[in-house]
Amino acid sequence: MNIVVGVTGGIAAYKTVTIVRLLTKAGHDVTVVPTDDALRFVGLPTWEAISRNAVTTSVHDDVARVRHVALGQNADLIIVAPATANTIAAMAAGLASDLLGTTLLATEAPVVIAPAMHAEMWRHPATQANIATLRSRGVHIVGPDDGELAGGDSGPGRMSEPEHIVEQALAVRAEPDLQGLRVAVSAGGTREPIDPVRYLGNRSSGKQGTALAVAAAERGADVVLVAANIDAATLHDATAHPKIRIVTSGTAAELGEAMGAAAADAHVVIMAAAVADYRPAEVSTRKITKEGGETPVITLVQNPDIVAGLAERRSEGTAPRGQTIVAFAAETPQTPEEMIERARRKRERKNVDLLVVNEVGWSKGFETTDNAAHIIGDAGAVVGTVDGTKREVADAVWNAVVRYRRGQQAGSHDQHPDAADTTATTRQPGGSGAPRQLRRHRWRG
Ligand code: C5P
Repeated sequence: MNIVVGVTGGIAAYKTVTIVRLLTKAGHDVTVVPTDDALRFVGLPTWEAISRNAVTTSVHDDVARVRHVALGQNADLIIVAPATANTIAAMAAGLASDLLGTTLLATEAPVVIAPAMHAEMWRHPATQANIATLRSRGVHIVGPDDGELAGGDSGPGRMSEPEHIVEQALAVRAEPDLQGLRVAVSAGGTREPIDPVRYLGNRSSGKQGTALAVAAAERGADVVLVAANIDAATLHDATAHPKIRIVTSGTAAELGEAMGAAAADAHVVIMAAAVADYRPAEVSTRKITKEGGETPVITLVQNPDIVAGLAERRSEGTAPRGQTIVAFAAETPQTPEEMIERARRKRERKNVDLLVVNEVGWSKGFETTDNAAHIIGDAGAVVGTVDGTKREVADAVWNAVVRYRRGQQAGSHDQHPDAADTTATTRQPGGSGAPRQLRRHRWRG
């Protein structure tokens, strides 16, 4: 893609160097358009070196090629990071006082901005009104985050992290290859009550499952996200997305019921939630105390396997024909081979189409922003390996689902009536035509 990165005069400009680096590394052609003020923070040679393209702030350079409008006309995507209060006001007013201003006025490409300023300036009604104006024109706003600001203050106004901005910006251009699909995703970890104040739980944060739901919605699917004990900050992007309906659940039984309902008309079911295998046989109606003097013994009973139950419904014909079912497995193996072997057996046992396996441990997999996983498909083949952010893992899983469904439909004339047009390629619009996954995620196999 041709991407223009506008940089304006804020201290966060140093983080934009990473944004440009990530975009060029992913194979995009990046032109940086700094304002004069931005160059006081990071100099022109840095932008040229990192983008490998000529950089100017002036509308009077390269006039023969009408650079002041050509950049905007040729762009597939424009990112402005950091976007200062001043630039946001200029954009809202439609000012064309420099090369960035003319580029923004001359473009029909999606525009993504990452505001960065002091909390007071962000909260000011003028800035909020300008943001509302930009939003109403379709500009995508990423952040700002809450956190430490220049000068030691803190509050909302900190520019989002480069990886997040890149992820969000590229998602704006993502092809809607899941358009027309209804999907059900479970996320988080169940809690099985022992008494009114205690439970048996697990360390799943819900980040991976939420990333799957958001990725699906951004790729066009209608999503039901069954969320078990996920905090509001993790759910934030899902809550804001119009194509995602969130159903909250607490226990395995509640999650099973919610997933059963959501799966009843879903084309794709993904069970990313960490479901308790066991629950206390009895739940005390009163808090268990030490007063009796005896150490309590908690007897456990096994919970039904929800995903295996959904697969059974499909086999019995009581779920939509052609439904694709994906399970997750978190393993603590001694060797990578053992992990894959366990995953293969689990996929067979649960009778699911794809099984995503990742290694977990005290510092791996849970609560982190990154993840590494293998995707096991037909006949136990490793159909993908991905190592990246949870969003990248999510996109890799959806790519595997798209490929799997395409394979199913090619091999069968007995397809689900709704399933047509749901397995389009994952090419990037405006791009070179190379499969997105091959470029962005280190796929092997
Ligand atoms: O057998 P194991 O717990 O490792 O399997 C994990 C997969 O099975 C996940 O997809 C999880 O959501 C699902 N699961 C389930 N019901 C259970 C336990 C796990 O659907 N009771």
